[in-house]
Amino acid sequence: MEDEQRLRCLIVARTLPAQGHVELIVESQELSRAIPGQFAHILTPGMLRRPISFSRIDPGHGLSGLLFQVVGSGTKWLAERSIGEVLDVLGPLGHGFPAPDPRKPWALVGGGVGVPPLYAAAEKWAQTQAHTPEVIIGARRGVWVVMENDFQDLGIEPRIMTDDGSKGEPGNVLHPLSLWLDTHVQAQVYACGPTPMLQAVRRMTLGRATTYLALEQRMGCGIGACLACVVPTVGDCGMYYQRVCTEGPVFRAEELMW
Ligand SMILES: Cc1cc2nc3c(=O)[nH]c(=O)nc-3n(C[C@H](O)[C@H](O)[C@H](O)COP(=O)(O)OP(=O)(O)OC[C@H]3O[C@@H](n4cnc5c(N)ncnc54)[C@H](O)[C@@H]3O)c2cc1C
Ligand code: FES
Repeated sequence: MEDEQRLRCLIVARTLPAQGHVELIVESQELSRAIPGQFAHILTPGMLRRPISFSRIDPGHGLSGLLFQVVGSGTKWLAERSIGEVLDVLGPLGHGFPAPDPRKPWALVGGGVGVPPLYAAAEKWAQTQAHTPEVIIGARRGVWVVMENDFQDLGIEPRIMTDDGSKGEPGNVLHPLSLWLDTHVQAQVYACGPTPMLQAVRRMTLGRATTYLALEQRMGCGIGACLACVVPTVGDCGMYYQRVCTEGPVFRAEELMW
């Protein structure tokens, strides 16, 4: 299975969207058919592959974006890659977000490097929606806020929340999300970010919105074989485990047993 999905992707652009963050644009028709929320599993020599979501998807030009923060040796290696080099990628992997109902209000809630797949969702679906999506971006530090300008280019003014208060408003994404939920019925919430943020979004929206969460679980194989990424979920037959890499990374909030 791994070999079937193994792609060689040429890096055609490289930018620095925020302090300690890099975005690579890669050329691959197969990857550019991704659904927002799916991910690329990238070979980093001498290590396990590293999963990175698609930050933008352009099937017309066969391009897609990979925006990441440098946090360890895998992302450091990736950050050192240059235009003209080739990445060994498995993908697109996993299940992405479903298309939102165009008639219902829609909020995109991203924390840190959870923002890129939500931008990809806005880029793909915002024009099809009756309502402009409410976009709430959270980051620990102002210098780590990503994709604000990209949302603005789509005509969407994101609400920025930072832990250190150095950009936007001080605080996290939950307060503005709560206010938005108070004034919107039949809401749809798409969220991606650190696990504690997603758990809080799940608790806040249960029974109040249709919520999809894209998990950033640590992974091994990325293709369903090693079970390193399982999360407890609940269905008609009770509790069972699902693999984030293959059944996810996007789950409905009600499915997760957090
Ligand atoms: C489906 C999916 C999509 C992702 N999309 C993105 C993305 O678009 N952009 C991006 O920057 N990152 C994304 N990540 C996280 C990214 O995969 C990790 O940051 C990366 O693998 C770290 O590799 P490393 O070798 O640089 O760091 P490591 O040396 O492996 O780890 C460095 C530090 O980061 C922590 N860490 C590593 N991986 C994770 C994780 N998955 N969740 C929480 N903490 C972690 C480690 O505990 C350690 O403290 C995604 C993860 C998943 C599962
Ligand atoms: S990472 Fe191996 S099963 Fe999900």
